[in-house]
Parts: sequence; C-alpha cells; structure tokens
Amino acid sequence: MTAKSSRIDNVDPPRSVRVWDVPTRLFHWSLVLLVATSLYTGNVGGLREMDLHKLSGYAILALVLFRLVWGVVGSPRSRFSDFVRGPGAVIGYARSLLSKAHRGVVGHNPMGGWSVMAMLASLSLQAITGLFSRDDILTEGPLVRYVSKETSRTLSAIHDINATVLYVLIGLHLAAVLGYLIFRKDNLIRPMLTGRKTVAAAEGGHQDEPFARAWVAGIILAAAAGAVWLVVSR
Ligand code: HEM
Ligand code: HEM
Repeated sequence: MTAKSSRIDNVDPPRSVRVWDVPTRLFHWSLVLLVATSLYTGNVGGLREMDLHKLSGYAILALVLFRLVWGVVGSPRSRFSDFVRGPGAVIGYARSLLSKAHRGVVGHNPMGGWSVMAMLASLSLQAITGLFSRDDILTEGPLVRYVSKETSRTLSAIHDINATVLYVLIGLHLAAVLGYLIFRKDNLIRPMLTGRKTVAAAEGGHQDEPFARAWVAGIILAAAAGAVWLVVSR
C-alpha cells in the first residue's frame, strides 16, 4: 500500500495523525464564506451588492491561485499528487464503498479528489469569466474593454450557466460529507477544523508526516493576491 491510499486500519489502537495544515484549513473556510457571498450578491444584484460581488470574486481568484501552487509545494495530504488518481483507483474506491471491507482514507479519497479538482476548475472559470462579464445595466468586470460586446455576452452566459454547475458541485460535496458522517460514521469535518484525524495504528501509510511551513503559504498567497490586483486594476 502507498502513502497515497493510506488506509485506516480498524483493528489497531487509534492515534492522531496530521491531515490538513493551517493554510489548507484557512483556504477552505475562507472559500466557503466568499463563495456564499459571491452567490448571494450575484443573485441579489444591487449596485452595492455587485461591488461586493466583484471584490469577493477577486479574493476567490487569489485563493484558488494560492491552492493551485499549494497543491504542488504544500503539506503531504494537500498535494495533488496525493489525491488525483486514475480511473482504476476511482472505480476501485467506488466499489469498495459498497462493500463491508471498506476502509477510510486519510486525506481526500480518489472520488473526493476529483470533486475537489472539479470545484477548483469551476471556481476558476467563474471568477475568470466574471472579469469579462457585464449585465448591460450596472455592473461590468474590469476586463470587458479588452473583448468585443459579443464575446463579453458569451462569457456572461458562461458565467450564468457555470453558477448552476457550482451549485451542483457544492450540493454533491455537502451530500458526500454528510453521507460519510451518517452512513460510514466517518467525520471528515473535524479534521478540516482541527487539522488532525484519529486513525488506527502504526500502519506504513499512516506516518504522521510534518506539515509544510506556513510562512511559505503566506508568501504564495501574497503573490497570488498581487497578481490578481495587477490584472483587475488595469
Ligand atoms: C461554498 C461551499 C463550499 C465549497 C466551495 C467547498 C469547497 C471545498 C474544497 C475546494 C475542498 C478541498 C480542500 C483542499 O484540499 O484544499 C473541500 C474539502 C472539504 N470540505 Fe468543503 N466546501 C464548501 C462547503 C463546505 C461545508 C459547509 C462543509 C462542512 C459541513 C465542508 C466540509 C469539507 C470537508 C470535510 C472537506 C474535506 C473532505 C475530505 O476529507 O476529503 N465544505 N471543500
Ligand atoms: C467565483 C466567483 C464568482 C461567483 C460564484 C459568481 C456568481 C455569480 C452569480 C450567481 C451571478 C448571477 C447570475 C444570474 O444572473 O443568473 C453573477 C453575475 C455576475 N457576476 Fe459573478 N460570480 C463570481 C465572480 C465574479 C467576478 C470576479 C466578477 C467581475 C469582476 C463578476 C461579475 C459578474 C457580473 C457583471 C454579473 C452580472 C452579469 C451576469 O449575469 O453574467 N462575478 N455572478
């Protein structure tokens, strides 16, 4: 067994291992607040709401940029190489979910990994199309003048349609987290709050690997925010 699929052994005595570092947890809960803000303000659509809509959209763009880099240089469980798996692993995991022999995973499981990637992709698309969107009344993104009216209309339409895709992905995400809690008695929320997960025993794949340095995350986030500011203040 590899560290990628580090499984929870139900037989050995439990111990606590590191799962989500502080930057990943801050990323997640800030994202939740900002996405809720963007969806709410986008739907309400007043002048002040749309100002907030744009700001929270920029913040989401910076967060997603940060996460893409943290997925390469971050802590072991936060790296894409830890949870982005091929179709074989996904199908095998999906099958195991239905069997009694199913064992939990520390980090994102092979199905959850793709759900994370889909949310990051949809959020990127949403924030980027927003930059070129206009509602023809009050609000326009900061880059509309760089594209034709026709292109801006198409990108606004994609912005609208992708908002629905986002609702579906978030709905599936919440259903999955709740499903694990109810049917598998596996509380995934606690590690996203505390950073640690209680697993059974000294199994090879369960080494309690150290987190990456948080100040590195600070620098990456500052660079991501700077890059977004450079683009939107043009
Ligand atoms: C706007 C709503 C939400 C969005 C866009 C969202 C997005 C995400 C993303 C991108 C990740 C991957 C984290 C990473 O590796 O960096 C994640 C993981 C996670 N989220 Fe959310 N999330 C939302 C709401 C919630 C809520 C309300 C809860 C709790 C009830 C929650 C619980 C979790 C948990 C437990 C994980 C880790 C799952 C695992 O162990 O594989 N999320 N979420
Ligand atoms: C991930 C972040 C974002 C989310 C979740 C989001 C969500 C939404 C939603 C739900 C709507 C209403 C769509 C409808 O009327 O059916 C909307 C509209 C709009 N958003 Fe965003 N948005 C985001 C980022 C941005 C950004 C960064 C900008 C520009 C700076 C922007 C500019 C606009 C504009 C101009 C509209 C009105 C035109 C339209 O309906 O397409 N959005 N957004």
